[in-house]
Amino acid sequence: MEREYFTHKGVLFSSPDYSPEELSYVENEFQVRDDDVFNVTYPKSGTNWMLEILSLIRCDGDPGWVRSVLSWDRAPWVEHYLGLEAALKYPSPRLLCSHLPVQLFPKSLKCSKAKIIYTLRCPKDVLVSLYHFSKVLRIFKTPESLDSFLEDFLSGNIVYGSWFDHVTGWLGLKGSKNFFSITYEELQQDPQGSVRRICHFLGKELSEEQVASVVENASFQSMKVNKMSNYSQMSDQLLDHQQGALLRKGICGDWRNHLSEGQSRRFNAIYQERMQGLSMTFPWDCP
Ligand code: A3P
Repeated sequence: MEREYFTHKGVLFSSPDYSPEELSYVENEFQVRDDDVFNVTYPKSGTNWMLEILSLIRCDGDPGWVRSVLSWDRAPWVEHYLGLEAALKYPSPRLLCSHLPVQLFPKSLKCSKAKIIYTLRCPKDVLVSLYHFSKVLRIFKTPESLDSFLEDFLSGNIVYGSWFDHVTGWLGLKGSKNFFSITYEELQQDPQGSVRRICHFLGKELSEEQVASVVENASFQSMKVNKMSNYSQMSDQLLDHQQGALLRKGICGDWRNHLSEGQSRRFNAIYQERMQGLSMTFPWDCP
């Protein structure tokens, strides 16, 4: 089924996967619980990798849960109608996912002790990953070309809106006790150290062996062959399995294989303009 797009409070979503009523419910009425842990990302930033890490940490590194329960049942997507239903029935403590920009996130977060883990990734790699995945996931329209997709990405004319708004919005919470951010690149460079930092944030103590088991079982290779985590079980209505897979390359810097010099320069110009207010440095090399 070809998706229709609609704009909700200035952000693009697709129908029937999302609806203005449910998005409003999630923002205004969904009750965040103090012991909720939210895995928040802009799409293609390492959501499923973090979901796997958090699932394994929850089980002290034991892979039993990630090998027996589908990822979207372990951590439902609150803003998606199927995920919302599951989130409402989920017994505490919940592990939940969301791609919502901060202004559309449940308001009840403000007066709760819920923990947010925000993972971000080099936006040029996000762009390339999303370009490929848009041909696979039916929630997104198939891009006409990389050039037109680049323009849509830069202007935020895509589902979940602008990467720049998402990142600057969520990073506004940096410094809050219950907010933790990490990059896909840090996860790649230092998986053990990253898992230890996440555990510290969650108040969870794992032994070196347990940390090693989290890293091993959440690796690209492990997830690629784990039917519970690789989206191979997702329905044909949501995913066109002929067009590709969730676990595509899993590397940093793949944008270099796709963007021309001109496209990269165009990206850099907008990046500079949109990120200048943020006094933070990132592992990627957009100027
Ligand atoms: P690529 O398309 O660049 O390969 P999300 O989970 O947010 O949809 O992000 C998907 C991206 O994360 C894909 O990137 C996918 O390959 C990558 N990914 C998923 N699991 C990973 C893992 N365990 N290690 C490294 N990358 C992973």
